[in-house]
Amino acid sequence: MSEATTLPSPARAAAPLQKTGRGWLERINNTLCAEGIALTEIAAAVGTPFYCYSARALRQNFADLSAAVAPLGVSICFAVKANSNLSVLTEFARLGCGMDIVSGGEMERALAAGVPPARIIFSGVGKTRDEIRRALTAGLHQINIESVAELESVAEVARSLGLRAPIALRVNPDVDAGTHAKITTARKDSKFGIAIDEIPALYARASAMPELMVTGLAVHIGSQIRDLAPFRKAWSALADLVRTLRAADLQVARLDLGGGLGVGTDTEAGPDLAEYARIIAETVGDLGCALNIEPGRWLAARAGILVSEVIYLKDASGAHFAVVDAAMNDLMRPALYDARHPVLPVHAPRGGAAPVWRIVGPICESSDDFGAYPDLGPLHAGDLLAFDNAGAYGATMSSTYNSRPLVPEVMVDAGRFRVVRKRAGTDVFLDLESPAEWCNPRAAR
Ligand code: LLP
Repeated sequence: MSEATTLPSPARAAAPLQKTGRGWLERINNTLCAEGIALTEIAAAVGTPFYCYSARALRQNFADLSAAVAPLGVSICFAVKANSNLSVLTEFARLGCGMDIVSGGEMERALAAGVPPARIIFSGVGKTRDEIRRALTAGLHQINIESVAELESVAEVARSLGLRAPIALRVNPDVDAGTHAKITTARKDSKFGIAIDEIPALYARASAMPELMVTGLAVHIGSQIRDLAPFRKAWSALADLVRTLRAADLQVARLDLGGGLGVGTDTEAGPDLAEYARIIAETVGDLGCALNIEPGRWLAARAGILVSEVIYLKDASGAHFAVVDAAMNDLMRPALYDARHPVLPVHAPRGGAAPVWRIVGPICESSDDFGAYPDLGPLHAGDLLAFDNAGAYGATMSSTYNSRPLVPEVMVDAGRFRVVRKRAGTDVFLDLESPAEWCNPRAAR
């Protein structure tokens, strides 16, 4: 078990990184390219749809965020749920980035990517005893506790192992993150965290339990937050709580400030990193606590696209549909959160009149609809389109609904590309199934 009070500080990237912004995607010879490789070339080799990640953009995002928060002594733990591809995790691990995990599966992935256990924080509202046991024996940095029942479970497992569990209490500060209702996590009625007014008594109780090492507090108020005011509100409440606990002679060494930093789209601006860092400094900067954040989307979203091919064009009742071969099973966010992903044609811009296109997938649900796009120009069957900002919560939320294959993932880096997760077709899933013998009249009895 790690007794360290701070997460090891992130290593600086070895060489200065070229400032790319969205520069990893650029048009060369009239074709959209990823780090200089034509997406048409990758599509020809891999087939569509596929996710494509830029290793350079992942590194650049980490470098930019580190530059903003490392001077404040803030460590970064990547929220694995945003993108758990082993190659993505390995890129971050090599930069010294920690990880925030929410399941045993994410723990295995983070460890497989070479993240030291002492840089892993275990969040989530429903950790099982098996997962807690594995976390404690692996020696994770910290387990964030979300309820009294979970506190008791962790203490019990630690006792049975003869270990002391480093824990933080996740606070529900009753702050509205001002984002989509389904990704808001710190309102009073939310399932997450422990009500802020219950914390002092529970903190004192946990501090007296010999099998627990209470290190501090955690908070996470929601996701895709672009107006930063809710962060100020939540972290100010956290700072007040630290002062209250200290006044009662309780030790608070660490604060986990959560994730949630949003990214811009084609229609909305992204947040200002300098302001984000200023809010951290002004709210919790002078408490003398070890600080960490848990960004997922900010590090990964803009480093990935989903590339899809137009299958058919179809006019119906005044609407102009472009039916593409990606669907809500591959990129769930528009169907689930009405999220908008900018769409970039891979081909050269075409002149001439063009309608507002509704980009839709082949799945038999009306929600399989990526939205209306007025600026794509004329489209033809066979065109490739790239959904931008798809490097976070894209592949990790994909499924095989409608018995579609599990979408493959490609990584580009310095003029090379590799398939880093293969397309998993129906053959793979049929292999996992063994129909009950009474379902199959031809099976031997
Ligand atoms: N820490 C905790 C405890 C979390 O629950 C989350 C995300 C994060 C960190 C990372 O949040 P981020 O920096 O990525 O916003 N599927 C949704 C997002 C759900 C986020 C859930 N928790 C989407 O596609 O928008």
